[in-house]
Amino acid sequence: MKFTIAIDGPAAAGKGTISRAVAEHFNMAYLDTGLLYRVVGAKVLAGETPVDAAKTIHPGELQGAYLRSSEVAQAASRAAVLPDVRMALIEFQRDFARREGGAVLDGRDIGTVICPQADVKLFITATPGIRAMRRLKELDRQRSDLSYSKVLNDVIDRDKRDRERKLAPLIAAEDAITIDTSSLNASVAISHVIEIIQKRMDL
Ligand code: DC
Repeated sequence: MKFTIAIDGPAAAGKGTISRAVAEHFNMAYLDTGLLYRVVGAKVLAGETPVDAAKTIHPGELQGAYLRSSEVAQAASRAAVLPDVRMALIEFQRDFARREGGAVLDGRDIGTVICPQADVKLFITATPGIRAMRRLKELDRQRSDLSYSKVLNDVIDRDKRDRERKLAPLIAAEDAITIDTSSLNASVAISHVIEIIQKRMDL
């Protein structure tokens, strides 16, 4: 069975938590496509050119706490503006989406560019303030020198760059279902999404 679930949305809206839970529930493979851009960002910070970094990426690199840092996130967002970087990462993502057994991909352009034919498209969002609070909690475990206002500025900066870029900007696909998680806890949001997907599978 091939079944593709596309989950897009801005930073720290809850995409990752929801996508992991959905993949586990339906026993599907999961790809956090932001990690591809984060690896590129990390390699650029280490001195590589963005395009070389994107062309030489391999699955073994998609892990490590450093990739979660805000420096790497900003570098990822800057590299993600470059058309050649995006082009170099398309095939890996499309191959992943076509896996036997089904696949969940989360990112910014999955429903619009990478998998316009996805079986289910979701757009997960939340207010910038709530997203900054969530990101702060996540990052706080590693660093205590981060303030709410710094994290909020990072979130707003990244949203702006991700939404305003010319190629594959962050936007909900026309046929995506939008879910605002601002006032939902994770388990309520996950149950809601699982119900939507199950209904689509039963059609
Ligand atoms: O989801 P994330 O925060 O890990 O993503 C990091 C950056 O990568 C994000 O600011 C923009 C970019 N990105 C993208 O352009 N397209 C995607 N499908 C996923 C991430």
